Amino acid sequence: MLEIVHFTPVCFERDRIQADAWLLPLLRESTQHFQTIGVHGISNDWLGQQPWKRVLAFQVFHDLLEPASPQRRILEVGGGLSAITERLAIQHDYSLIELATHEKEENYRKLEASLGRTFVTLADWSDTPFTAPRDLVIANDLFPNVDQRLYAFIDAAWPMCRELRLTLTYYENTVWHVKRIPSGEQLIVRPWGLREVRVFLDHLVECHPHDFPSYDRTQLVYHDYEKILFTNRRNILRVRMTKQT
Ligand SMILES: C[S@@+](CC[C@H](N)C(=O)[O-])C[C@H]1O[C@@H](n2cnc3c(N)ncnc32)[C@H](O)[C@@H]1O
Repeated sequence: MLEIVHFTPVCFERDRIQADAWLLPLLRESTQHFQTIGVHGISNDWLGQQPWKRVLAFQVFHDLLEPASPQRRILEVGGGLSAITERLAIQHDYSLIELATHEKEENYRKLEASLGRTFVTLADWSDTPFTAPRDLVIANDLFPNVDQRLYAFIDAAWPMCRELRLTLTYYENTVWHVKRIPSGEQLIVRPWGLREVRVFLDHLVECHPHDFPSYDRTQLVYHDYEKILFTNRRNILRVRMTKQT
């Protein structure tokens, strides 16, 4: 099954109260714990500051963090460091691959030490072969806005898991001025838009007709939600891929 849901202001308002009732207490608890052990997580800050991030986290993670949720083998890529990271590591057989572009390594290591287990590989996911089978692989707010190698990621992750949860962030009418690290050369980059996301989903259905006979194309839209929902022109599609057998 390939389920896609466009994240709209209506979708946000529908889950906002429930999301905050669930996540704000967890955030308070983890933030206090992080302070005690000297950890600072940027993703944790974002969850505190950005209401849409909390609603999206609720939609992606809430079922996994219910007290009765069975333990699952979960791999998250680019998960950052937050209350969600801590809860997943406590409740599940959880591994995280992180490039740590926002936090220093020591923050991840301190959290591991306080939980008494190592679960973080600090690396680029593409340098880390996915060998162990997982029940679930998650990539939230990584593809294709931060990392455009979405096709390669699916090719690596899908054979190794039963379920994949992604949030895909795309833009229209946007360019980014970025710098190549080795040469310092300035590039003008156009992030993925609706057309690239559509081509990707069509490719997925074409490559895996048994797993994904079709998907709901009505969700494939773009609206400018700048200052309505987000601080920029991003749009988000929540994607859930599950195996039929
Ligand atoms: C936009 S942040 C999202 C963090 C978190 N998932 C959230 O929603 O708050 C992207 C994260 O992906 C990590 N990242 C970027 N490229 C990566 C890569 N190639 N492999 C692993 N992690 C990566 C960054 O270090 C960062 O923590």
